[in-house]
Amino acid sequence: MDTIEGIDDERLEKLVERFYARVRADDALGPIFNDAVGDWPEHLEKLTAFWSSVMLTSGRYKGQPVPAHRKYADRITPELFERWLGLWKITTDELMAPDAAAALQAKAARIAESLQLALFFKLPVPSQPAKAAARQGPEPAFAYSSSMVRNGHG
Ligand code: HEM
Repeated sequence: MDTIEGIDDERLEKLVERFYARVRADDALGPIFNDAVGDWPEHLEKLTAFWSSVMLTSGRYKGQPVPAHRKYADRITPELFERWLGLWKITTDELMAPDAAAALQAKAARIAESLQLALFFKLPVPSQPAKAAARQGPEPAFAYSSSMVRNGHG
């Protein structure tokens, strides 16, 4: 991927710092993060590495976002994702050049969608005849792979 003008590790670090300061102060998101994260400097470093991998293909992040979020699935809702993306928009618009902010927002929206599919999407349990038909039927038209998120192609 071509790197986008105005995005480098130093700016990503500042962005991540400002964003999580906002998240921690948020009435709805704050408690989840404050309960989950014991070592904030480490979390911020990890998230800077994540965004560096996603936007600059630096390969700095080694982790698995889906299991990390699944641990808190009973507390996370689609509305909270909207809120997360809203704070991300405010912070990226504030700190980044317009094209860089737009690229960061688009990427976050796609990853948020992948994460939500992984957390919330459940196939309905098919009835017996439907199961039999499915065995003979075509391949499903849709398949989700959590590696999309792991690899930053979310
Ligand atoms: C409602 C929205 C979200 C909530 C409440 C949430 C919450 C959390 C929490 C509590 C952790 C810490 C996990 C732990 O250390 O035990 C975490 C980690 C993380 N989050 Fe989120 N998150 C949200 C959305 C997102 C989105 C949209 C992205 C990416 C665009 C993202 C990327 C990450 C990454 C990369 C980690 C580190 C995972 C690891 O340990 O390797 N999160 N998140």
